[in-house]
Amino acid sequence: MRYIKLGRTGLDVSPVAIGAMTYGEPDRGHPVWSLDEESSRPLVKQALEAGINFFDTANMYSYGSSEEILGRALAEYANRDDVVITTKVRHPMRPGSPNSSGLSRKAIMTEIDNSLRRLGTDYVDVYMIHRLDPATPLEETLEALNDVVKAGKARYLGASSMHAWQFAKALHLQERHGWARFVTMQDHYNLLAREEEREMLPLCADEGVATMVWSPLARGRLARPFDQAATGTRAATYGAYADLLYRANADSDRQIIGALGTIAEQRGVSRAQIALAWLRRNPVVAAPLVGARTAQQIDDAVASLDIDLTDEEARRLEAPYTPRHDFQGVSDEREMERIKASIPGYANL
Ligand SMILES: NC(=O)c1ccc[n+]([C@@H]2O[C@H](COP(=O)([O-])OP(=O)(O)OC[C@H]3O[C@@H](n4cnc5c(N)ncnc54)[C@H](OP(=O)(O)O)[C@@H]3O)[C@@H](O)[C@H]2O)c1
Repeated sequence: MRYIKLGRTGLDVSPVAIGAMTYGEPDRGHPVWSLDEESSRPLVKQALEAGINFFDTANMYSYGSSEEILGRALAEYANRDDVVITTKVRHPMRPGSPNSSGLSRKAIMTEIDNSLRRLGTDYVDVYMIHRLDPATPLEETLEALNDVVKAGKARYLGASSMHAWQFAKALHLQERHGWARFVTMQDHYNLLAREEEREMLPLCADEGVATMVWSPLARGRLARPFDQAATGTRAATYGAYADLLYRANADSDRQIIGALGTIAEQRGVSRAQIALAWLRRNPVVAAPLVGARTAQQIDDAVASLDIDLTDEEARRLEAPYTPRHDFQGVSDEREMERIKASIPGYANL
């Protein structure tokens, strides 16, 4: 494995990371795509053996079960100091408990300790905010995060999906107050979702912030032909309005997925490998977070590192893209309602 520096930090990470969102015991996980501990552990072992040292989870993935499974597997198969663990805070953890969600000082201080306990470690490498919390002053959140770093509970800070202006403001406040700075931005980016090329990715490039890409395969849509039934897969579990958005771009997506299939066939590799290799062309992308559910899917992620697409292949993949809504970074409920209302057919759902 060839390791890279994470953005402008001195931290070495593999250029592919394992997303542990799909790990979760059945009583807390997703009914379609969660893998229980017995099925998850061999994937962690396989990833480590392939040289992957970068693992992503969140407190809310399967209500803590993902952190528990990942923590136990890493403790068994790796030396803690040889792996890089990222986890997140923001979404509700205990139904009916208002302080179990959001980014207040209280929530952050409680949730970092809960994450460390579940992961079985005394520090995480990157502690991330899963989204913004518009109901908490940004300064309160950023100062609490700084204190988490100063207490030695996190080595670095990261953020995930928000508007670029919000991220620029947060970076500015951190700098102004001398607080620990976000070193990563975890973002929704793939061949079917390229809206971040407009503002967020250039901002990250300019600020030296590493991008970790979530849903790099559009939850599996980029791993199969456009019309292939996806029943029982992650791709089939898009929410209702995400599905509407998806269908609004069906012509464009059909052509992109068609070009992907042709290039994969010409090179004799899987579609997933080509889709991941395309992400690597962008120097701001540090690592895709692969939500692998099988051994073959991990092999694909590692094999993608050996593929360098030509400019002509990239052009064929990129040309059919049409701009689309991207609601993934919206944390304000009123803004979200406005977006939903603008989607034809949403009202009839
Ligand atoms: N920050 C955030 O807000 C956020 C949001 C979402 C995810 N994430 C992170 O990103 C990670 C990945 O998200 P994702 O699961 O949506 O990513 P993804 O890589 O786009 O989708 C993964 C799914 O694609 C399917 N697939 C088919 N062939 C594959 C192949 N060769 N390799 C890998 N997957 C293949 C699998 O589902 P089937 O086998 O069912 O087809 C797999 O579960 C998560 O685990 C999490 O760590 C973060």
